[in-house]
Amino acid sequence: MIPKRLGLCARVLSRPRSSLLSRTFATQPEKPSTATETTHFGFRDVPRSEKESLVKEVFSSVASKYDVMNDAMSMGVHRLWKDEFVSSLKPGSVKVGKVTRCIDVAGGTGDIALRILDYAREKKADRDITVDLVDINPDMLKEGQKRFRKTMYHGSPQVAFHVGNAQDLGKDRFPDNTYDIYTIAFGIRNCTDIPAVLSEAYRVLKPGGVFACLEFSKVTQPVLASLYEQYSFSVIPLLGTILAGDRASYQYLVESIRKFPSQQEFARMIANAGFEVGELEDGGAWRDQWGGIASIHTGVKLA
Ligand SMILES: C[S@@+](CC[C@H](N)C(=O)[O-])C[C@H]1O[C@@H](n2cnc3c(N)ncnc32)[C@H](O)[C@@H]1O
Repeated sequence: MIPKRLGLCARVLSRPRSSLLSRTFATQPEKPSTATETTHFGFRDVPRSEKESLVKEVFSSVASKYDVMNDAMSMGVHRLWKDEFVSSLKPGSVKVGKVTRCIDVAGGTGDIALRILDYAREKKADRDITVDLVDINPDMLKEGQKRFRKTMYHGSPQVAFHVGNAQDLGKDRFPDNTYDIYTIAFGIRNCTDIPAVLSEAYRVLKPGGVFACLEFSKVTQPVLASLYEQYSFSVIPLLGTILAGDRASYQYLVESIRKFPSQQEFARMIANAGFEVGELEDGGAWRDQWGGIASIHTGVKLA
């Protein structure tokens, strides 16, 4: 039985099967041939094998200031996007005895996990839903654990923290067909191998499960794009210097946003991983937030 927790899901499932199949894409992204291949780390080219540790350094360096900096850099707007992201998924069961299982990957300090649990409790009276919060960086997870200690979920089986890599979650700890909802917010652009992340997401979701990604994206409106460009490259690294004493990490964050694929390219990658994504346009495979500064991509695992 496929849960109809999303409008997207319901729309997708009401389409004829032939139209669903036609929306997967035959082309696969190129695989790097050798370990000496390079990739981007912000605007720098680095060996693929080094990116992961460089990203780890960034998040270890910003972990203790991460939440404060997020509010300062976005003037609190990231909270609105995250609220919208989680409420659009409508997490939580309406059936007594049915436990909804969520996995929040690159979950960092727990912004999404906490919202999922709060939404389910407040809107669905669901205190059984669970979230496995996975992040590659123990320093970010420690900040998340500190934060959860102050909440009613502390010590409950509703949340568990795991050090893990989005690209290879591991079949033993995260078996196939386990989760109803997979979320990843502002995490996937930091990963070296995005197709590997998507393929792991597909593997761990149950049939009918929903993949949802909130990520910085491409602004299409030229005036907004130019203002945003100036703000990103002058204000954000400056705030990093003043508030966190770390310009380089925030310079990387801004550069990594520019290197991330467009909404449409990313939607194709999600479809290539096997997900049904809907029409390749705003309102279909993704929903832009604030003119595309961020966007929410979703996909459904059908089989
Ligand atoms: C910008 S933070 C986002 C944290 C949180 N999701 C949020 O929205 O506030 C990015 C997170 O991705 C994590 N990350 C980067 N590469 C990862 C990987 N390969 N696997 C798992 N987590 C990763 C980082 O450690 C960091 O905590």
